[in-house]
Amino acid sequence: MIWRGEGLKIVLVPTMGFFHEGHLALMKHGRTLGDRLVVSLFVNPAQFGPSEDLQRYPRDLDRDAGLAREAGVNVLFTPSPEQMYPEGYQTYVTVEKLSQGLCGASRPGHFRGVATVVLKLFNLVQPHLAVFGEKDYQQLMIIRRLAADLNLPMDIVGCPIVRESDGLAMSSRNAYLTPEERAAALSLSYALKGAQKLAAAGEKSREKILDLVKRIITREPHTRIDYISLVHSDTLEEVDILKDEARLLLAVWVGSTRLIDNALLPEARYTCCV
Ligand code: PAJ
Repeated sequence: MIWRGEGLKIVLVPTMGFFHEGHLALMKHGRTLGDRLVVSLFVNPAQFGPSEDLQRYPRDLDRDAGLAREAGVNVLFTPSPEQMYPEGYQTYVTVEKLSQGLCGASRPGHFRGVATVVLKLFNLVQPHLAVFGEKDYQQLMIIRRLAADLNLPMDIVGCPIVRESDGLAMSSRNAYLTPEERAAALSLSYALKGAQKLAAAGEKSREKILDLVKRIITREPHTRIDYISLVHSDTLEEVDILKDEARLLLAVWVGSTRLIDNALLPEARYTCCV
C-alpha cells in the first residue's frame, strides 16, 4: 500500500454493511486513531450456516456508500464472494477454545468463517489498527486472540455498544423485526440493566442474576432464549460467583430473528474505546 510507504497510519473497520449508528461510531472513532480509514463491506458466506440468513441479509450498497462518504471513509472496500473465495479455496483459520461456546455452540463454523475472513481482510488492507464493536463480544475476543497468537503486527481496538434511545442494541438484523417483535426485543437490554442493578446492589450469585434475566426475557411474547451466560471478560469461561468484573452475554430468538447483546457486571462507571 502506498499509504504505508508514506508513513501514514491505516485504520480498518470490517463490516457486513447495512450501516447503522453502531457501524458509524466505529468509523468515527477509527478516524481519530489514524490518518486513513478503510471500511470493508463484505457479507461473508463462510460465516453463515446452511440454514441461516445469508440470502436475505439486508443490503443497500448505495446508501452505505453515501454514509461512508459522510463519515470521512477514504476507501470503501467491497470485494465479491468470488474474489474472496475463488474456485479451489480451502484454507480456514480456527481460534479453537474461544470459538466453542456461546454463539459458537449454536452456530457451528461461524467463528471459523469470521476468523478466516478477518485475517484475509487484514492481509489485503494491511492496517496498523482495526476497530471492532463490543456488541459482538465473543467475536472481539476471538479476533484479539487471533492477532496475538499469529503475531499480527497491528492493534485491535474495541468500542462500546451503540443503542437505540430505548436501549435496543443496534443491529442490521433489527430490520427483520415486526413492530410487536421490536417491542419484545427490548427485554434483552432491560434484562441486562436489571442484572447490572442487582450486581451493583451486591448480588454475587450467578444463579440469582441469571434467574432475573431469564424471567424478564421469557415474560415477553415471541422470545426464546438461546443462551444466557455469565463469563470472565477475557477468557469467556463461565463464572459461578461474581468476583471482579464479568460479562453477561445473551442470545435470544425474537420471532425468527436471533439477537445478541451483552453488558459488563457490575456496570462500568465510564465507557471508552480500548
Ligand atoms: P457486522 O455485523 O456488520 O458488524 C461490523 C462491526 O460493527 C463489528 O465489529 C460489530 O461488533 C460492530 N457493531 C455492530 N453493531 C454494533 C453496535 N450496536 N454497537 C457497536 N458496534 C457494533 O461483525 C461483523 O459484521 C462480521 O462478523 C465481520 C467482523 C465484518 C466479519 O465478517
